[in-house]
Amino acid sequence: MSVLKNLKTSINTERLPRHIAIIMDGNGRWAKQQSKLRVFGHQGGVEAVRDTVEGAAEMGIKYLTLYAFSTENWNRPKLEIDALMELLVNTINKETRTLMDNDIRLQAIGNIESLPKKCKRNLEEAINKTANNKRMTLVLALSYSSKWEIIEAVKKIAEKVEKQKLQIRDINEEIFNSCLSTHNIPNPELLIRTSGEHRISNFLLWQIAYSELYFTDVLWPDFRREHLNDAIVNYQNRERRFGKTSEQIEKENA
Ligand code: IPE
Ligand code: IPE
Ligand code: MG
Repeated sequence: MSVLKNLKTSINTERLPRHIAIIMDGNGRWAKQQSKLRVFGHQGGVEAVRDTVEGAAEMGIKYLTLYAFSTENWNRPKLEIDALMELLVNTINKETRTLMDNDIRLQAIGNIESLPKKCKRNLEEAINKTANNKRMTLVLALSYSSKWEIIEAVKKIAEKVEKQKLQIRDINEEIFNSCLSTHNIPNPELLIRTSGEHRISNFLLWQIAYSELYFTDVLWPDFRREHLNDAIVNYQNRERRFGKTSEQIEKENA
């Protein structure tokens, strides 16, 4: 009972995660439940993105990363890929104004070169336009896979060594970090996945080494800021020990 009593039910704004990453999953199943095409689910997902982004900024979250399209998603039917890319272009165009109004900066991680030209152009325009916004950074993971990102980092490090700008003995976590596409973004304290799937699907493998994982059965198109709120409250009721003992942590916080 005493443990239950100590459980907080509302957000402590002084202990917010700085960075939340979300694997937005379940669009297809949401559409199927309504006997609609998968694309309908992706359109529904845009509404969830809008509310979550706005909610996160209002709560005071500094970085929000959304996994929107994985390297592996290129293996989906062409019709679905085309619809997703089209949706992406339209959403970016339509929402840049909202990002400006909410002082939100847009960034992207992933193999952006592999996106259709129009998509890449619109994305870069929105990134440039919002570059000076300060309230929150919204990071879109597009054509992203963590293994791809890690291999890219290894190539950069190998090149530095080859050009004798770096000694092998000097390679450390900090240098490796600086070669990742997330080099200017802190690691997420909280990773959320929707739709009841309990896996990482090649997302931020290095960066989530010590993240708290939160899984919810809510399908992405149904996800709203209230669900984000629930995830943060759940996160704030956990003890992050980083290898230490509970007693050590309690002493540090006393
Ligand atoms: C997530 O929803 C969106 C993307 C991966 C682009 P899904 O499309 O994976 O939906 P389910 O998992 O089939 O329900
Ligand atoms: C992960 O979702 C990728 C994104 C959310 C963009 P998937 O639905 O593609 O993941 P798997 O393949 O089922 O693991
Ligand atoms: Mg899925």
